Amino acid sequence: MKRTRVELERELAAFDQQHVLAFWDELDESGCERLAGELARLDLAQLRELFRGEVVAEDWAETARRSSAPPARRLSDADAAESTERATAAALEALAAGHVGVVIVAGGQGSRLGFEHPKGMYPVGPISGASLFQILLEKITARARVAGMRIPLYLMTSPATHAETVDYLRANEHFGLPSEDVRIFCQGTMPAVDAKTGRLLLAEKHCLALSPDGHGGTLRALSESGCLADMHARGVRQLFYCQIDNPLVEMCDPVFLGYHLLAGSELSTAVVCKKHSREKVGNVVSVDGRLRILEYSDLNPLPDEIVERRGADGSPVFWAGNTAVHVFDVAFLERMAASGTALPFHVARKAVGHLDPAGNRVEPRKPNAIKFERFIFDLLPEARQGIVVEVDAQRTFAPVKNAPGDPTDSPETVRAQMIALYTDWLRRAGCEVAEGVTVEISPLFAQNADELAARISPGLTVTAPRYFC
Ligand code: UTP
Repeated sequence: MKRTRVELERELAAFDQQHVLAFWDELDESGCERLAGELARLDLAQLRELFRGEVVAEDWAETARRSSAPPARRLSDADAAESTERATAAALEALAAGHVGVVIVAGGQGSRLGFEHPKGMYPVGPISGASLFQILLEKITARARVAGMRIPLYLMTSPATHAETVDYLRANEHFGLPSEDVRIFCQGTMPAVDAKTGRLLLAEKHCLALSPDGHGGTLRALSESGCLADMHARGVRQLFYCQIDNPLVEMCDPVFLGYHLLAGSELSTAVVCKKHSREKVGNVVSVDGRLRILEYSDLNPLPDEIVERRGADGSPVFWAGNTAVHVFDVAFLERMAASGTALPFHVARKAVGHLDPAGNRVEPRKPNAIKFERFIFDLLPEARQGIVVEVDAQRTFAPVKNAPGDPTDSPETVRAQMIALYTDWLRRAGCEVAEGVTVEISPLFAQNADELAARISPGLTVTAPRYFC
């Protein structure tokens, strides 16, 4: 129902937010409609609560003391070879039966990378210039081809990335995936508020400063878009979750997926062994028998006696670094969606451009605002039999986070890691790759060293840049 300015003003004034109507009289009809629509979708009471609650922090030292290492399959387990074989067999069976789908989250604003399009369009292929979207979608095609079964993709965007992503993927024919196997769904948003006052910020005179509600928005968006129902109807039982920023992700990794199935886990996480105790990566731990993640920003300020803690077997408690790759049971997601269990919001202080009271655009250099985001890993404590599975960081984990030139997680460091991996595959297949030569392997050519070895003749010498596709 359309509300008048007076009605809006009264509702907003109850929360001291009436300033967002400051330019109402200058707006045309569509501007008024847009702003009124955005305001109608807000929960101002919740926003006030979130802002006020910001000061109540968890006692991280206490949580860290109660933490123990998570139940895990480790690369160094004595029975690793044999159990990996069993796990792989279970996964291949599930894939061949059509029980596996993929969700890729690509709704983030990619602010650190500083790319003017959705991050998935970033050209990361060292020779091909293939985008993150191309590489990840081709990985799904490759996995489906080997499984002899279709693998549906559920791709999450946000209002910030949706239209461009849809156009880009359509123009590129979804990089070979049948269009009936691709569902693109859009996540929700949350308003940013002024960090000092908790008041809403206007991005323009007719719209609020909104941002995607975090990768934890996936649960609600999957449910509300009908994607969960679609999975149910297609018989998809496990959902492989990954982020758009990691071109090395082992798509539907049969070892990881298989361990998830064998453990009867509802939610599993692929982890890497941290290089040192204060490495900047989320820590998967077990607290009171439930998995959860302790963020590095909460753990790292604590003293050594906590951060360096060891378990009864002498190994570090905080060894398991989150790679943001998960496997969900679809039934678990359905249960969570139906229960109405709302994931908590986390607060992040960010620089957010906005209008000042006179209507002039302000672009702050320092954090001026608070954004509220949900995190997908907050589902971990709700899952039964959750486990972590260790994967090799060098081979499977290279997220593009930072801008070119940054010494870590930048396009250059990611490309270097891709080239090192492909060089290793080629050498293991009996090829000679001259030092310093750039090589790249399309997922459609080979998904791993074994597939590569089956496709090329040993003795091949590579002395100039080469893209195997
Ligand atoms: P990050 O938290 O690294 O954010 O997201 P980002 O958008 O890539 O980059 P910054 O922080 O703005 O620099 C990790 C993954 O989660 C997705 C991102 O697209 C990325 O794949 N994500 C993040 C969403 O899908 N929605 C969100 O609201 C936030």
